[in-house]
Amino acid sequence: MAPAVRIQYRSAIVGGDRMVMTRGGLAEGADATHFGFSTVPLGDKQGLVDEVFHKVAGRYDLMNDMMSGGLHRLWKNELVSMLDPRPGERRAWRHLDVAGGTGDVAFRIVDALERRVRRRGGRLDRAAAEVTILDINGDMLGVGRERAVKRYGADSVLDFVQANAESLPLEAASLDSITIAFGIRNVPRIDAALGEFYRALRRGGRFLCLEFAPMDTPGLDRVYEAFSFHVIPRIGQIVAGDAEPYRYLVESIQRFPRPEAFAAMIARAGFQRASFKPLTGGIVNIHSGWKL
Ligand SMILES: C[S@@+](CC[C@H](N)C(=O)[O-])C[C@H]1O[C@@H](n2cnc3c(N)ncnc32)[C@H](O)[C@@H]1O
Repeated sequence: MAPAVRIQYRSAIVGGDRMVMTRGGLAEGADATHFGFSTVPLGDKQGLVDEVFHKVAGRYDLMNDMMSGGLHRLWKNELVSMLDPRPGERRAWRHLDVAGGTGDVAFRIVDALERRVRRRGGRLDRAAAEVTILDINGDMLGVGRERAVKRYGADSVLDFVQANAESLPLEAASLDSITIAFGIRNVPRIDAALGEFYRALRRGGRFLCLEFAPMDTPGLDRVYEAFSFHVIPRIGQIVAGDAEPYRYLVESIQRFPRPEAFAAMIARAGFQRASFKPLTGGIVNIHSGWKL
């Protein structure tokens, strides 16, 4: 999909210090936000994010493994085991995976549902569950759709929807659960998206969010920063032919709120029992909230 806005973005690491390049002296505020270490007009961020994922879509899954040493698989497995998806008995259990990209989380959810149904001697169908992958980027969804057909055939419980997390094309109180993995930090208006997740969930519904956190554990932070800012963009250059999108991805982690602050945002959106579980020394967290 062609990005709505094309703006050159760049930030640099100089002698280990981050140099923050702002555009035209914009200060972050009501109508400015961050894009990696750059400050951009709020209305421009989504176009820039779309451009990143348009560039990385074809190599996204390979790069995920290379950048995390395969750890993203364990983190996603943990997310799905916390969700503990169960097929509905009287009506289909409805799940939405926001920023679902190439389908990794949704496929794990479908596999978990299939295992449960098979144990009962049944077959997973739309009477038992519906799992929707929603993403703003048609290129990421296109890769996901191809993978889904290879894995489950054309007739599965999966649906693909191209839409913005800030404005879900779904009725209020129509979902049993929502997940978002490594997606929320890319959304320009995070509060708007959290509000939408709350609106779309039924009472008793659960929201789970897997996301990186800025690293500040003494000792570990230097190793982590060296890997993130020097090694990952280089891997991106070699494997995908472009370092810049990967520089954005690691910079955006450092600009994401700390887990306590993000849990407070989830609570402010209306969710109850907002909590988070750090994984791998706090490199990532799984945030949880309930609509009760
Ligand atoms: C790092 S990828 C994560 C993909 C997948 N969840 C995973 O864990 O492998 C982030 C995804 O967020 C999507 N995204 C960014 N902004 C979005 C928005 N406003 N609404 C929906 N999806 C968005 C991107 O298109 C991209 O597919």
